[in-house]
Amino acid sequence: MDSKLTRSDSSLNALNGYAKRRDGYALMRDCNASARLTAQHYLWKDLLGYLVHPDIPTRSADLKVADVATGNGIWLHDLASHAIPSAEFHGFDISLDQVGHRSWLPANIHMHTWNVFEEPPPQFCQYFDIVHVRLITVVIKNNDPKPVLANLTKLLKPGGFLQWDEVDTISCFVKAVPGGSAEKLDQLNSQLKGRDTWKYQMANIMRQNQYSEVSLFNYEYDLSMARFWNDIYVSTWKEFAKNVLKTPEQSNELEIEAMAEVREGASIMTPKLVWVAKKHT
Ligand SMILES: C[S@@+](CC[C@H](N)C(=O)[O-])C[C@H]1O[C@@H](n2cnc3c(N)ncnc32)[C@H](O)[C@@H]1O
Repeated sequence: MDSKLTRSDSSLNALNGYAKRRDGYALMRDCNASARLTAQHYLWKDLLGYLVHPDIPTRSADLKVADVATGNGIWLHDLASHAIPSAEFHGFDISLDQVGHRSWLPANIHMHTWNVFEEPPPQFCQYFDIVHVRLITVVIKNNDPKPVLANLTKLLKPGGFLQWDEVDTISCFVKAVPGGSAEKLDQLNSQLKGRDTWKYQMANIMRQNQYSEVSLFNYEYDLSMARFWNDIYVSTWKEFAKNVLKTPEQSNELEIEAMAEVREGASIMTPKLVWVAKKHT
C-alpha cells in the first residue's frame, strides 16, 4: 500500500476493506489501546468538566444509563462509581475484549455484546434515560450517522437524553512554536484526518430524527495540555497505521521524525464536539 495514503482518501477504502475481513474496527484492542482509552478518558473529563452534561438530569433513583461502543468501559465505571446504588449502567460494544472480567464488574454495571448497526436487544428498547456514545468516528459508514443514530434512539425512553462526544477530525491541526517545524507531524496528522462532514450537520440530523432541545458544545484544550493530547493522537495513529496502513517501516520512520518535532515544540490539536439532545416525548 502507498505510504502516502491519508484517511481522507484511500485509507478510508483500506479501512472498509479491513472492516470486511474483521469486525469493522480500525484501531486495536490490546493493552496499549486500552491504556490509551483510559488515559484519554481522564483528559476528556478534565477538558469537559463532566461525564454527563449538566443539562441532563441524573438524580432519578431508578436512573438507567447506556454507554454504546463502551471500549474498556472506563466512562461507565467512572459514572457508576459516583452514582446512587439503585441506578443501572449498561455497556454495549461489538467486542468486550477490553472489559474487565464479568465476575469483577461492580454490581450496578452490566456489559453486553451488540453491533450498533443491528437492531437493539428487545429488552433494551425504550429502556434508558441516558444513552452516551463517545468516539465512534471510525465506526460511522459512508459519512452517514443516521443508521447508528436510529438504533441509539431506539434504546432511549421518550424524553430521554442522548449525549454524543466526538473529535473534530476536520478542524484538527498541528501547532508549532514560533519558527518551529512540524512537517512530519503534519504528515502524520493528515493520515488521521477525515472528511467526516456529518459532524457539521449532526444537530440538524438529530432535530429531523426524533430529537428536540439539541445543543452542540465545542471544546479546545490550551497549549499547557497539548503534549498530553498529542501523545494520545500519535498513539491512535500508531494503532491505525498498524491495523490499516500496514507500512511498518515508513510508519516507524514517520513516528520518529514527528516525535522529534514534538519534542522541539509541536502538537496535534484536536477540538472536541459534544451533542446533547432530548428524544421527543
Ligand atoms: C475509540 S473506541 C471508544 C471507546 C469508548 N467509547 C471510549 O470513549 O473510551 C471505539 C469502540 O467502538 C467499538 N465498536 C466498533 N464497531 C462497533 C460496532 N459496529 N458496534 C458497537 N461497537 C463498535 C470498538 O470495539 C471500540 O470499543
